[in-house]
Order: sequence, then structure tokens, then C-alpha cells
Amino acid sequence: MSELDAYGALAGTDKSSSVSWCWDYLRHYEELFRPFRDQPINLLEIGVASGASLAVWTRYFSKAQIVGVEINPDGARFAGERVAIRIGSQEDPGFLHGVTVEFPPTIIIDDGSHLAHHMIASFETLFPALLPGGVYIFEDMAFHFEESDRRFQGAAAHQGLSATPIYDYLNKFMRARAASARLPADSWGFARYAFEQIDSVTVAGGFVALRKKAPRDMTQPIAVFERELAQGGGAEAAARYAEFLIKHDVNLDRAAALVPGILAAAPRDETIMITLLNIMLKLERFDDASEIANHLARIGPWNARYWDQLAMIERRRGRPELEAAALRQLIALQPNSAGNHLRLSELSEDSGDLDAATGFARVASELEPGNIDFRNRVAALAERRAG
Ligand SMILES: C[S@@+](CC[C@H](N)C(=O)[O-])C[C@H]1O[C@@H](n2cnc3c(N)ncnc32)[C@H](O)[C@@H]1O
Repeated sequence: MSELDAYGALAGTDKSSSVSWCWDYLRHYEELFRPFRDQPINLLEIGVASGASLAVWTRYFSKAQIVGVEINPDGARFAGERVAIRIGSQEDPGFLHGVTVEFPPTIIIDDGSHLAHHMIASFETLFPALLPGGVYIFEDMAFHFEESDRRFQGAAAHQGLSATPIYDYLNKFMRARAASARLPADSWGFARYAFEQIDSVTVAGGFVALRKKAPRDMTQPIAVFERELAQGGGAEAAARYAEFLIKHDVNLDRAAALVPGILAAAPRDETIMITLLNIMLKLERFDDASEIANHLARIGPWNARYWDQLAMIERRRGRPELEAAALRQLIALQPNSAGNHLRLSELSEDSGDLDAATGFARVASELEPGNIDFRNRVAALAERRAG
């Protein structure tokens, strides 16, 4: 039995594994709540009833401010040291907003009416106010699956005024997480916000917990990489470390400082060179990027991507003759790409070589006869040459 579960049993809450309906939430919550145990957070719970769960939170968390939201004015009697009670309904967005302004929450537990339209309205008001890394919990989901009988109100009653059952509403977020970065294309408004902000979904007997995204703490992984290097990790480890820093946009100076060592030690390995190229581009070190891209183009001259990248890098360096040379190599590999001919045409025009500019524009136009822009370009260049 977990410590939190024992506190729950002592306080007589059915969130524990032994009281009344014993939903058995607390052993799971302990994992979700542990990082905040000694932090000065605000925990907001909708539904106070007899104050049992408030007593559990006060006992488990050493510094948290506990905030109970309750429709029944009688709930006010549970206010005390580190416990505030705010009387109002969870379906009132103005009221809830006011509570979050007063107590910006890190943990929110919806144990209120359990009506789907209330749960959704509360979530859509409260989730944006949840602090990064915070947890939002929907409790007693099982009510939404039950047949109604004399003892239970049943699923239909719990759906309340909502057009969709609560599990269908939440299922969208589970699907979105399972689909990783591939967000539904048609999501907008609150749905889009939630898809982007929910970092993980935890489902266990009777509850659903959504964790909100937070900036990552890089201290530990950076310590691992540094240790690896100190123990002679070599050029590949250094390149992976630099790649990691660049990807997460942290310690870019450290990434830059690693580069000379990698270049000196790396056996000109293609994978490491590609990593280094990405690092140089991110650091906008285009001279170094040019050197690496040239190397890659030398070892993989059949790879159009290398020439394409080299052409773009030389453009950033303001070296049109080198850009043109890379483009010519690219065209040799992809003779049917109108876009490449157009790029060369524009470069030739910039350098004042109108004959070459017209020639390349004409090839582009022949490759894409339906493209009116290409045709207009050929005509305009011809006119300038004639004039
Ligand atoms: C299940 S009890 C809460 C139990 C408590 N969290 C515990 O574990 O000890 C539900 C509570 O929600 C309150 N409630 C019902 N509808 C509400 C609403 N619309 N807004 C706020 N509280 C509501 C009820 O008055 C009741 O006290």
C-alpha cells in the first residue's frame, strides 16, 4: 500500500483502496503527484463533500495550498490552514477563472457533479490556467459507462446536456497523443490548444489524467553527455551531444565549442558530417557549413541533396559563382527539374549574363510548358536582350 493510499484510508475517502466504493486512485496519484510533494503548488479540487480528500492532500503535500471548489455553501467549514474553500458552481467559467487567478493551479481534480457538460466546461476553462507540467484529473469515469437502475443514475444521466459522452470527448486527446506529432488537420480553437498542450494521458481504473507540457529540464541529460565525453566518448559522442544541444536549442555555445574537436577527430564519417552540417547551419556558420557540404558532395557526388544544400549555403555566403557551380552539378543529376534551371537563370541574370539567363529560362519553360511565369520570364529576358 502506498503512503498516499494509507492517508486516504485514514481520512475515509473512497479514492483509497479500502473505503466504501474504493476507487483505488491514490496509488496512481502518488506517482503523478510525487514531483510536487514538497513544492509550494496550488492543488484545486472540485467537490469538497465531507472534506475527506482535502485532509489527504494537506497531509501528503508539505507546502501545497489546497483549494476546494464546492457548490454547497456548507463546504466553507472545511477552510483552514493551507486549505481555502471557494463556493460556486463548476459550470460557471467566470467563477472558476477567478479561482485560478487567485490560485494558479498545478494539480486540478474534477470530483464534482460528474455530469459530462460540467466536466467539459470546467476543463475548457481550467486547463488553459493549469501551469506547465501540471496534471488535470477527471474522476469517477465509471459512472459514464453504467446502466441505470435503482442504485445508479447511469450513463445517460451523467452525459447530462453534453452532445457527446465524456469518454468520446477525452478519447480525442488520447488518439492525438497516440498519433504523436500528427495532429488532426481540422482541429482548431480549444481542441487545437489542447492537442498541442497535452503531453501525456494516463488512464487507470476509473480516472483519466492529462499532463500539460512543460519546458524540459536538461540538467540530467547534459550531465550524462558531459560524463560520456570526460570518459573519452570520442567524436561520435561529441557529435551526438552537439546535435542534442542544437535540437533542444540549449547551450549553443557549448555545441559550437565541441565542433573543432569533432572535426579534428572524426574520420570524415558521413553520418557525423551530416550532423555537423546541421549544427553549422543552425549556428549560421556558413563558411564551416560550406567546407562540410563540399566534403559531403565529394564523397557522395551522386546525392542531389548534397549539391542542393551546397548551392543554398553558397547563396547564404554571397558566392554566386560557387552557387552556380553547385547548381550545375545538381542539374546534371536532375536534368528534368524546371526549378533548378530557373535558379540558374536567376543567378545568371544577377551576374548580368542575359544570354545564359534566357537559355536556362527557356529550358525551364520547355520542361513545364503550362507554366505562364516561365513563359513570361523568357519573353521579358528576350526583350531586355533585344533592347
Ligand atoms: C463526490 S463529492 C466530492 C468528494 C470529495 N472530493 C472527497 O473525495 O472527499 C462531490 C461534491 O461535488 C459537489 N458538487 C456537485 N455539483 C457541483 C457543481 N456544479 N460545482 C461544484 N461542486 C459541485 C457536491 O456538492 C459534492 O460535495
